[in-house]
Amino acid sequence: MSSPPRFQAPTGTLDVLPPASARWEQLLAAFATTAGRAGYGLVINPMFEDIGVFLRGIGEGSEVVTKEMYEFRDKGDRHMALRPEGTASVARAFIQHRPGLPFKAWYATPAFRYERPQAGRYRQHHQLGLEAFGVEDPEVDIEVISLAVEFYRALGLSRISLKVNSMGDETCRPAYVELLRVYLSQRADRLCDEHRTKFELNPLRVLDCKREECKSATEEAPALTAHLCEPCRIHHSAVLSGLDDLGVGYSPEFRLVRGFDYYTRTTFEFAAEALGTAQNAAGGGGRYDGLVESLGGPATPGIGFGLGIERLLLACDAEGAMSESTSGLDAFVIDVVGGRSATLITHELRAAGLRVDRAFDGRSMKSQMKAADRSGAAVAVIIGEEEAAAGVATLRPLRGEHEQVKVPRAEVAEAVRRMGRVEARP
Ligand code: HAM
Repeated sequence: MSSPPRFQAPTGTLDVLPPASARWEQLLAAFATTAGRAGYGLVINPMFEDIGVFLRGIGEGSEVVTKEMYEFRDKGDRHMALRPEGTASVARAFIQHRPGLPFKAWYATPAFRYERPQAGRYRQHHQLGLEAFGVEDPEVDIEVISLAVEFYRALGLSRISLKVNSMGDETCRPAYVELLRVYLSQRADRLCDEHRTKFELNPLRVLDCKREECKSATEEAPALTAHLCEPCRIHHSAVLSGLDDLGVGYSPEFRLVRGFDYYTRTTFEFAAEALGTAQNAAGGGGRYDGLVESLGGPATPGIGFGLGIERLLLACDAEGAMSESTSGLDAFVIDVVGGRSATLITHELRAAGLRVDRAFDGRSMKSQMKAADRSGAAVAVIIGEEEAAAGVATLRPLRGEHEQVKVPRAEVAEAVRRMGRVEARP
């Protein structure tokens, strides 16, 4: 047995190679369609930022920032960090470029968090996300949530549940946090080791704690939704009734505070019911009406979500949705004559809009046929001595019920298309 390679992907990261990457292409295309149909345009940001973007944007009350961030000093001694999520960077770009409002953006990005790797949890994961800046109207909350729901549906996922909460705002949250602090101080001995002594600092984090002790101690905790100020209450009930009107199922979850300090009002999270609880967070998001200001921009409301691509694919596997696709090749060109003929016919077929691969190095017919089978193509296009002399090509179907045929060179593209089309029928 050969020894393991000297260099491997860093712990907690993934290499995605073809054919598995075909599903990533499909996911990206489906998300671009869903977001584009709703007027969201693609944003591409740097993978790293001045660390202040994340310290101020996400907030120092968040573990993603305090414990998990990949930070470094560059050669100019600037303190930088790899992005642990997409929202703060998009807000920074919004402030820098001031596009017109509303500014509706979508992105596909790696995100870096120094977490303990386990199934479905990586140090570099990837998110599909969208953000809408400049709209306070609860109708945009409904748009954003329902776009995620529509996207899950487009992938064929049906076992996705939605939890919704409101985090209130600067008017109503401080009084609630006090209430929660009192509640927790009466039960401090029942909290987990970490929160027993630290709950005073940020009582909301205890609601987010996944440990059983904290979960059970907060079951009866006061709910922020019962202590919202009037504008937040009206906003929240409009969001819920909008989801009802669109037929989007959800359950209210008063403990859904999520891990970032920027959230205000609406927060939501999607769970893939087909996955175990440790990895079932299939996406989440919320409103962040103070984020742009906290980064030095003008007061601008915003809302968005991020969905983990790796988690989406795990959910698809568990539900049997979006099955592993083939290469999608229409044809594989086999050249037993050598020389230029395979290059020419491959070129012609690609120019005709077909997806075509070929063998190189003039290998034996047998080994080229093996390569054709492995390629996942629908048809092998064979140019042997006889074919080359007669100006024809042999088309051998690699899947389905078709007969092998010989066709004039000028008709090869059409014949490949015909074979592929019949094959594609259910
Ligand atoms: P988040 O909940 O931290 O939110 O991440 C969004 C999604 O990314 C999660 O629901 C999960 O699917 C996936 N995810 C997170 N961490 C990991 C990991 N270590 N390994 C694999 N997948 C992971 C945000 O990042 C916010 N920026 C979402 C948002 C956008 N809020 C408003 N706008």
